[in-house]
Amino acid sequence: MQVPLLDLKAQYGPLRDSIEVRLREVVESQYFILGPVVAEFEVAIRDYCHSAFAVGMSSGTDAQLAILMHLGIGPGDAVITTPFTFFATAGCVSRVGARPIFCDIEAGTFNLSPAAVASYLGNVARRDADGVLRAPTGERIRAIVPVHLFGLCAAMKEFLALGKAYGIPVLEDASQAIGAEYPFPDGLRGDAGSMGEFGWYSFFPSKNLGAFGDAGLAVGRDVRDEAPLRAMRMHGMDTQYVHRFVGGNFRLDALQAAVLSVKLPHLDGWSDARRDHAALYRKLFEAAGLTGKITLPAEPYAQAGLRHHHIYHQYVIRTPRRDELLAHLKSCGIGCAVYYPLPLHLQECFAALDYRAGAFPESERAAAEVLALPVYPELTREQMIFVVESIAEFFRRG
Ligand SMILES: Cc1ncc(COP(=O)(O)O)c(C=O)c1O
Repeated sequence: MQVPLLDLKAQYGPLRDSIEVRLREVVESQYFILGPVVAEFEVAIRDYCHSAFAVGMSSGTDAQLAILMHLGIGPGDAVITTPFTFFATAGCVSRVGARPIFCDIEAGTFNLSPAAVASYLGNVARRDADGVLRAPTGERIRAIVPVHLFGLCAAMKEFLALGKAYGIPVLEDASQAIGAEYPFPDGLRGDAGSMGEFGWYSFFPSKNLGAFGDAGLAVGRDVRDEAPLRAMRMHGMDTQYVHRFVGGNFRLDALQAAVLSVKLPHLDGWSDARRDHAALYRKLFEAAGLTGKITLPAEPYAQAGLRHHHIYHQYVIRTPRRDELLAHLKSCGIGCAVYYPLPLHLQECFAALDYRAGAFPESERAAAEVLALPVYPELTREQMIFVVESIAEFFRRG
């Protein structure tokens, strides 16, 4: 049996006709850059994400860049984030000329640890005589960027409290977590991307909501930021050929917005299916006696009564024998992958930041142990049974 890590054709088949209708509309209109289809999608996705506004961008990376540029984060600044994420989270910080500061993750959730950030802010960062919060290397600390990795929200209550205490905004990298929910005390619910000052999402084709190419979104909670962000994606232009500041070409294509508009109403159902798969995996792994050999994904918010307490963009197990298990599963025809094999503090391009191996033990251990298994919505029960049996066979062989 073949079990791919992801099967985008299985999702496309049932949507083919409706997508073709919307794509043809755009082609017939010849309105390819922004325009009514993008505007319609922005309203729908803003409401879905419960944000104050939503600005379609050319990718998640560009959405983050636009937000950092809007905040004026650049040379002389620093941004705190996780070393265990896709490169873009820290890459964008560097690209605007600021310094990424890494703090370690929580072992259970793989998300940025609020305790590690609190410890950095309390023990390593310093306030100047003029009250400016600075890294020991002198940069002004401008933001905290938690990432809702694999579709599970980071500990936002704690990060928002830290942001407030230190007077810095919390910017959410929700690229992998559209629709994920977070339980605040008193029964209040937060939506990934809409809890901090700003958030961004990626619609890379493999995401839970995937475009037919690159696409992304920036959201925020203060409508006063909407117009500048709209200008930011148009080279800082708000009136034709009049530029108040320097932005970029960060626009969402109308063709991508058309695809995303057709897919958006299906997103909740797809996330439900992913979560059902995770529940079945758990049952099957328990029945096979494998829970002592592999660690299953943590579900810290499962008891909070939220539908999307996890959206399982990735289903990630861990085992110290990861590389052997990966080779075995591949030989069985099962698609699996390592997100991410080298933490960002150890990337060559960040050598000048002067982090050493051992600086972030949980991130480094996760990088050595994680393995993502297939969890896409159209995956069948039989395929999942085959995955679990193949893992059981691996451990039986010893
Ligand atoms: C956590 C994270 N941040 C940022 C990005 C960047 O998004 P994009 O590929 O749309 O630029 C991604 C996408 O892979 C991601 O997973």
